[in-house]
Amino acid sequence: MISDKIVSWHTSYSISIPLIDTQHKELINLTNKLYQSCMEGRDKSRDVFMEVLRGAVDYVGYHFGTEEKVMERVSYPGYGAHKKEHTNFVKEVLKTADDLSKGINPNPLGFVYYLRDWVLTHIAVSDTLLGQYLVKLRQQGHLQNITLRVKQVADRFIIG
Ligand SMILES: [Fe+2]
Repeated sequence: MISDKIVSWHTSYSISIPLIDTQHKELINLTNKLYQSCMEGRDKSRDVFMEVLRGAVDYVGYHFGTEEKVMERVSYPGYGAHKKEHTNFVKEVLKTADDLSKGINPNPLGFVYYLRDWVLTHIAVSDTLLGQYLVKLRQQGHLQNITLRVKQVADRFIIG
């Protein structure tokens, strides 16, 4: 098994909110897993890739659900635009996953690079803005006693 990574966590990716940082680290792990499954032997690579992809899509749903719950709870002013980015990305991912599973798109590696670039850009721009807002609230003592309930696996994100 090839263990090369196409992305590694860097402290500069932190948005200073541990709950979200932990999930971003997992997204990076999953991106590397997808990359590794692309690099495996040709015979089994497609099945392995699709299995890892299903897990990644579920996790993305869980992660976006977490961020959206947080944004709702703190009445984040950028909620609508941020959620729209999530929704558009999920649509794109599901479409590509479908194309890959049907063999319409023969380029899983291209998809993995797209995934990596999207995640890093989204963290650097939209999630960083959210992080700054949350850090301010935390400094003012407004983040205490906020608990969230997020579904572990969002059914609507499962691909068949
Ligand atoms: Fe986000």
